[in-house]
Amino acid sequence: MDLKPSESLKIDTFSMRIDDIQSVELDRLHALSLSVGWPHRAEDWQFLRQSGEGFVALDEIGRVLGSAMWFAHGTDFATVGMVITSPRLQTLGAGQWLMKRVFDRVVGRDLRLNATRAARRLYLSLDFQPEKTVYHCQGIARLQTTDRPIRGDVRTLEARDIPAAIALDAAGFGVRRAALIERLFAHSAGYGLFKDGRLSAFALCRPFGRGHVVGPVVAESDADAVVIVRPHVADHSGSFLRIDTHMDHGEFAAFLSHSGMPVFDTVLTMSMGKRLADFAVRGAVAPVTYALASQSLG
Ligand SMILES: CC(C)(COP(=O)(O)OP(=O)(O)OC[C@H]1O[C@@H](n2cnc3c(N)ncnc32)[C@H](O)[C@@H]1OP(=O)(O)O)[C@@H](O)C(=O)NCCC(=O)NCCS
Repeated sequence: MDLKPSESLKIDTFSMRIDDIQSVELDRLHALSLSVGWPHRAEDWQFLRQSGEGFVALDEIGRVLGSAMWFAHGTDFATVGMVITSPRLQTLGAGQWLMKRVFDRVVGRDLRLNATRAARRLYLSLDFQPEKTVYHCQGIARLQTTDRPIRGDVRTLEARDIPAAIALDAAGFGVRRAALIERLFAHSAGYGLFKDGRLSAFALCRPFGRGHVVGPVVAESDADAVVIVRPHVADHSGSFLRIDTHMDHGEFAAFLSHSGMPVFDTVLTMSMGKRLADFAVRGAVAPVTYALASQSLG
């Protein structure tokens, strides 16, 4: 009898089942995102699970091989994120399968997501429209000195500032995200710029991935955005800091690279239904979202 094992082994395809993302242990979700090189910690998954809904794809013995989430805001809008299929499974249709299950649950909502290069073809095939590049900036924070005067007062944000932050975020983002902003406040340090006692810009910063992430940042000008991100850079000087922004030029973009956070990667904001510009507030001093809460949350 020949006992020498063969040099190759053909593995049969297997079937998967779908389940609620809340039903699996966090460390299994963490293992899935690690398998595609994402920096999320188990705590980051937990925060996302508390903020939205989602599905996992499981094999016959319960291994998590895929995920997809959505984060609903109000009755008409949602962001989609945490769309992952395990490397062994990619290009076999699992991404499409998961996304179609998400579509069943977000009927009637305008959708926005931030697509990695790997995912663009998937989302194009599902009729998402490309819109704007997001610059994922990160590095070891370092504070540059400045003698530029500040117009207004900067102070740390407190619970009493939440309603004003929700209103400013809604004006910048185009959709009111009250529950999310409240949850972010509980996990973040925040700075606000007050002009005549009114909150006119703010920036939150929370633990995420390899260090901390700054976002959301809402301000009426580049100069104001710099003023409220600067204290976070000071707080984390010498450690890892990340920020995701649509800004590719101007004072704010330059400030990020001078603060130790050059562009590390890009993703593409894509929409289905209303486009980014359709949500913009028009006016002389319209607030702008200078940094995303995260790529999944928008
Ligand atoms: C992006 C991702 C979720 C796609 O999942 P998937 O299971 O490979 O997707 P599917 O097999 O359903 O493929 C969907 C479409 O994309 C195509 N496609 C997928 N991966 C491809 C690749 N590497 N090169 C070329 N085409 C690819 C498929 O052929 C299919 O196209 P079609 O509809 O024209 O036939 C998966 O690659 C992944 O998890 N990547 C790492 C994490 C990530 O970047 N997630 C996206 C977050 S926005």
